[in-house]
Amino acid sequence: MLTINSSPLQGFTDFRFRNAFQQFFGGIDQYIAPYIRVNGKLEIKPGNRDILPANNGSLSLIPQIITKDADEFLFVAKYVQKLGYTELNWNLGCPYPMIAKRGMGSGLLSMPDKINEILTKVFAETDIHVSVKMRLGYESSREIFHVLPVLERYRLANITIHPRIGKQLYRGEVDLNTFEECIGLSSHKIFYNGDITSVQRFREMKERFPTINHWMIGRGLIADPFLPAMIKADVTVYPENRYEVFNSFHDALLSSYEEALSGRKHLLMKMYSLWEFFIQAFPQAQKCLKKIKKARSLSVYKEVVKQIIYDETFNVAQGFPSGK
Ligand SMILES: Cc1cc2nc3c(=O)[nH]c(=O)nc-3n(C[C@H](O)[C@H](O)[C@H](O)COP(=O)(O)O)c2cc1C
Repeated sequence: MLTINSSPLQGFTDFRFRNAFQQFFGGIDQYIAPYIRVNGKLEIKPGNRDILPANNGSLSLIPQIITKDADEFLFVAKYVQKLGYTELNWNLGCPYPMIAKRGMGSGLLSMPDKINEILTKVFAETDIHVSVKMRLGYESSREIFHVLPVLERYRLANITIHPRIGKQLYRGEVDLNTFEECIGLSSHKIFYNGDITSVQRFREMKERFPTINHWMIGRGLIADPFLPAMIKADVTVYPENRYEVFNSFHDALLSSYEEALSGRKHLLMKMYSLWEFFIQAFPQAQKCLKKIKKARSLSVYKEVVKQIIYDETFNVAQGFPSGK
């Protein structure tokens, strides 16, 4: 059966986003939470409320850790188990130099022995299920060919592969040829992740990788929140009330962040960062992104958003090209 997971985006897919998303769109089997980093100290910051069950309703959520240390892994495993989770996802993909240069995220992919050492200890000392989310490497896309044989030694819940290297960040194309080679080298359940931004793109990927049934979507799902449900239904036509639903989703997010963020400035910055994605579904309104950035009051912000949504609804009703 086809499964679609929501890819973690630190700063975006927090519990407020996830809950609003689930309420208005769905189509997601599991949400992966943005990573927990304990940073040498074996303690969880008291402000870290993102994975508390009380904040995640009925969402199926998998916590994630970024670390290069088995003791940190075990500490976080114990913490999430206490909260009731049975799986912990290990981030071996983060490309940011501040992380990768410290040997974490994709920076660990050139050290298969270290990965082995960590997994040996983790598997000996906890019964939590471990899944892995990884890139092809940091410097080279050949790094993964030394990591996959190590991962074969362990009974992982699954492996998600985003076929870029860390050095690329998000530039360039996904390397589908190397991804294809990887499929044949792993007996694990494999999720494909990267650049799924439309039903059409998904269909192309499905055709290219007919044995892959598991997919993970990150940025594409923020830019077009209807995408996972439309992929599941195998349709390219949006629901008739597309913009009403989006509007309600937007308002729910806004009031949720209003509750959480102190001050208008923080709230407006937060909404602007989301609009950098949302605007992709409103191609006629690109120039309005600047207006959102410049909005200094909530009433101006709301007015601009209303206009963007109204204009797009009007354009579509008139038969002008729609968002996608
Ligand atoms: C702003 C931002 C934050 C991210 N945070 C995380 C994270 O916390 N953990 C993780 O595994 N990946 C993280 N990623 C990577 C995404 O989960 C995903 O692998 C990547 O964006 C490729 O998938 P996509 O093309 O569907 O977005 C982040 C990406 C972005 C752009």
